[in-house]
Amino acid sequence: MTRLEISDVTKRFDSPGGEVVAVNDLSLTVDDGEFLVLLGPSGCGKTTTLRMIGGLEEPSEGEITFDDIRVNDVKARNRDVAMVFQDFALYPHMTIEQNLGFGLEREDNDLSSAEITETVHDVAEMLGISDLLDKKPASLSGGQKQRVALGRAIVREPRLFLFDEPLANLDAQLRKSMRTEIVELQSEMGITSAYVTHNQEEAMTIADKIAILRDGELQQLGMPSEIFNEPTNLFVAQFVGSPDMNIFDAKMTDEGETYRVELADSSFTIPAELLPADVDTSEVTVGFRPQDLFLNASSARVQGHGGPVLESSVRVIEPLGTEAIVHAEAADGDITATITQFHEIVEGEAIEFTIAPEHVYIFERETERLIKGRLGSETSETGTTSEVEV
Ligand SMILES: Nc1ncnc2c1ncn2[C@@H]1O[C@H](COP(=O)(O)OP(=O)(O)OP(=O)(O)O)[C@@H](O)[C@H]1O
Ligand SMILES: [Mg+2]
Repeated sequence: MTRLEISDVTKRFDSPGGEVVAVNDLSLTVDDGEFLVLLGPSGCGKTTTLRMIGGLEEPSEGEITFDDIRVNDVKARNRDVAMVFQDFALYPHMTIEQNLGFGLEREDNDLSSAEITETVHDVAEMLGISDLLDKKPASLSGGQKQRVALGRAIVREPRLFLFDEPLANLDAQLRKSMRTEIVELQSEMGITSAYVTHNQEEAMTIADKIAILRDGELQQLGMPSEIFNEPTNLFVAQFVGSPDMNIFDAKMTDEGETYRVELADSSFTIPAELLPADVDTSEVTVGFRPQDLFLNASSARVQGHGGPVLESSVRVIEPLGTEAIVHAEAADGDITATITQFHEIVEGEAIEFTIAPEHVYIFERETERLIKGRLGSETSETGTTSEVEV
């Protein structure tokens, strides 16, 4: 049971090219039993943050505490954390059973060898690898090896689980099933966890809370739905959600009851009550999630409520089963939409997309900060479904 707190932590490295600030003034907390995902592009400081939590790297500034006790000076092996990395090196000459029990034997605990065997067998059963216990790592598949690596972390019942892209080497199918397993195990055991990935979909599906990093700086800390609906800035908005958000430069003017938003070749209105009272900028960037776009012909419910209508020509339809990603050309720029009514259209056809004003994102152009996010509790956290209720 551990509450993790990182306060004003900065990490600098000396490198031949000069000093590198890998993590810059980072503060965040992970409550007891919570699953935090550190998300961001390559080089943004995810691994460095995780290594500082685990004690493999020392902060240049700031403090890390476990349950309000400072651990900066506590050695990694005394922090009682278990780490699972991408290259989950197992000991090749040991059997799976020995690999699983090794950490426990080495640890300063009062367990008898019979107790260790029992713990190892329990964990093996939990992970469905009981039949592998007598084998050596070389004869296991990638997924089986990763399961053993997880098992090695689990048997110790640590205060914290730290995962660094643990599923990166697995195929897509296995990734999905393993990440479900990790979430189930973590919530069953109630062990506070920090999980690094640059895969936004993975982050959205497994996290209680996501921390988005960019160039070593925290952009946003929030629940997946908050990050999706209320991204603090354009960077976060474009980093989460798939396909990418459609964005357009626009001009916004106050017309009293409504704001008028002018794109290059079209304009639409947004009811003033959907925007904060103190908007004082006219240069904006507007964003539309592909899942929020509807074919105009089939969205009578959206019509009559203002909001954009985008005339476009269908370029490519990529069917995905029950829905399709449609790429279209509009005068204002290219549009990507995820729609279910794709059987009604063909490539080359002229169509109109509409979007409810509630679902339009608006950012201040210069600072890229969010002015208006996406309203509506109807969005699933992965953003793959949406129903317009206006
Ligand atoms: N030991 C080191 N010496 C010098 N620079 C380092 C060291 N470790 C990390 N860095 C630099 O710090 C920055 C953050 O690196 P980090 O490994 O934390 O990124 P990351 O978010 O984990 O990236 P990736 O997704 O590629 O694994 C990078 O610019 C990296 O080059
Ligand atoms: Mg990394």
